Amino acid sequence: MPTSRLSPARLPTAELHLHIEGTLEPELIFALAVRNGIALPYRDVSALRAQYEFTDLQSFLTLYYSNMAVLLTEQDFEDMTRAYLVRAGAAGVRHAEIFLDPQAHLLRGVALETCINGVTRGLADSEARYGLSTSLIAAFLRDRTAEEALDVLEQLIAMDAPIIGIGLDSAEVGHPPSKFTAVFRRAHAAGLRCVAHAGEEGGPDYIWEALDLLGVARIDHGIRAVEDEQLVNRLVAEQIPLTVCPLSNVRLRAVDTLADHPLPDMLARGLNISVHSDDPSYFGGYLDDNMAQLVSTFALDSTQLAKLAANSVRSAFLTPERCEELLAEVENWRTAQPGAKQVPGG
Ligand code: ADE
Ligand code: ZN
Repeated sequence: MPTSRLSPARLPTAELHLHIEGTLEPELIFALAVRNGIALPYRDVSALRAQYEFTDLQSFLTLYYSNMAVLLTEQDFEDMTRAYLVRAGAAGVRHAEIFLDPQAHLLRGVALETCINGVTRGLADSEARYGLSTSLIAAFLRDRTAEEALDVLEQLIAMDAPIIGIGLDSAEVGHPPSKFTAVFRRAHAAGLRCVAHAGEEGGPDYIWEALDLLGVARIDHGIRAVEDEQLVNRLVAEQIPLTVCPLSNVRLRAVDTLADHPLPDMLARGLNISVHSDDPSYFGGYLDDNMAQLVSTFALDSTQLAKLAANSVRSAFLTPERCEELLAEVENWRTAQPGAKQVPGG
């Protein structure tokens, strides 16, 4: 079957690893800067885009946090969110669990209510307007203190923020999951879902800790799991979801090129992986772009793409009904592809 005839652009998928602040396109950054009277240190959009050459996670994070300066009002957060939803809908995303970094805004003097309410307003009519269901996850910055994270979590709980869970992101190495045990204990007690970035730049030990000390339901990234056979065995046995972000891994130099990415090996070993876009405006593409580049690099077939999409749906925090609905869409997509097998490959 010629892979070029596959249509990964409309593959129905759940986006489970997406930082809303990482969807700020340079054009929107400039538009918001003008609206808010902020002077940017770049002459124009192309001068800003020229900065998008990263050597590691920290080199990206520095620009990512600095560009957030243009987000000041609820309207700014709403506009950013709507711009993402339009693009995600076009990519075939049918459900998105979206990370927001509240501390990154609090530290700039933007109130918790401003960022939460703005993003929530953008998400409110997402299903009707953009064709995808959504939920929100508050991510804590691991290079800040656990006390600060706990304080923000208490504020989110007190204001009854519309979040389904918490995550852990930002600079990984030197900030192991064990630092945040009390934060995650509190989140579990509050009935929140828990996920954490681990094994992006940090080693397999960070994944063990996220599972054993934080009790997370999913690992974000997790690609360094392949270095630890015992860990791979556990992840396979328990089918723990790993939200893999191939273009992100290339742009942040976790792998040299996409052809060096462990994704095909991870699939072959039976790991429960799915594909996501992380910070798409910075890393050269949204979910459909990630899928298209995987298809052209690894010649993934429609059965493998459907497997990745079904994994994303099963790994999402969905009701059983919505999960079944989306799995049926994935199966319809698979059988509509040229040369589809009659029986799913599993
Ligand atoms: N925050 C936004 N994107 C991130 C990533 N890829 N890793 C850690 N923290 C992040
Ligand atoms: Zn991420």
